[in-house]
Amino acid sequence: MVDVKGRGLRALVAAALMVSASFGAHAADKLITLGFSQVGAESAWRTANTESVKSAAPAAGVNLKFADAQQKQENQIKAIRSYIAQKVDVIAFSPVVESGWEPILQEAKAAKIPVILTDRNIDTKDTSLYVTMIGSDFLEEGRRGGKWLEETYKDDKGPINIVELQGTVGSAPANDRHAGLIEVIKNDPKFKIIASQSGDFTLAGGKQVMEAFAKTYGNKINVVYAHNDDMALGAIQAMEEAGMHPGKDIKVVSFDATKGGFQAMVDGKINVDVECSPLLGPQLMQASKDLAAGKTLPRWIKTDETVFLQADAAKIMPTRKY
Ligand code: AHR
Repeated sequence: MVDVKGRGLRALVAAALMVSASFGAHAADKLITLGFSQVGAESAWRTANTESVKSAAPAAGVNLKFADAQQKQENQIKAIRSYIAQKVDVIAFSPVVESGWEPILQEAKAAKIPVILTDRNIDTKDTSLYVTMIGSDFLEEGRRGGKWLEETYKDDKGPINIVELQGTVGSAPANDRHAGLIEVIKNDPKFKIIASQSGDFTLAGGKQVMEAFAKTYGNKINVVYAHNDDMALGAIQAMEEAGMHPGKDIKVVSFDATKGGFQAMVDGKINVDVECSPLLGPQLMQASKDLAAGKTLPRWIKTDETVFLQADAAKIMPTRKY
């Protein structure tokens, strides 16, 4: 565990208490500087997540330094190194991929700057490299997509041919949404993943991969399992251009439940959307303030999520925030 009671933070808390005594708690809150490295702007989900972080910071009295890594790990490493050099109070980042973070996080640890993961997890045995992870259970999301398929095709002998549009290669949501699906369907041989390729979580990527799948597999395809709404929307375009009927002759399973995904459900083109909430900003600010105040945080601050069905989409859509 990073020593959050390290010298930098002790000084910060002492200063905060002094200011608080003279000017009240609100003035003390303003002292925290948070360096945040965002993945990029690849999807509607990501845009909503950036907006949530940026708007929560001033509301919580946190001084936010923000950097967009354009989906490149080396840019995230550079941003984190620069936050260390600037001696920010807390570093947070949404890791583009799961592996390769130990060296830079050792640097943050040596500088006694606590690290919070948001949205995506990393693959490390050293649990001292970050304090908490705020975000979804992607494995459970994958299981939920798989269970919908199991239920939908329970009276069908199959084969049920699935094409999978994967997210960014090596990212936690791509790894786990795939693994969750496999976990559910692996003992039922009627389900076959006939093709699987990354569309990098983008609409253009989803469209391009689906164009190739449609050409190669045509009407053998029963299901498109898209790791996010942007890729599902791109795939829908590709299917329609190929004369297919997404949501009808080809079932579409998607993730995120953005407004775009909801609209596609209302239009009958996505059958089920597994929720993944990007609205993590307020929790991130609270966690940063709790750390600065010396509080212990849970290892995983898990997002509460559900599954949305096409039949309910029109009624629920007006309540969606992203
Ligand atoms: O990490 C969350 C995933 O990243 C979302 O499902 C996807 O839309 C985004 O790009």
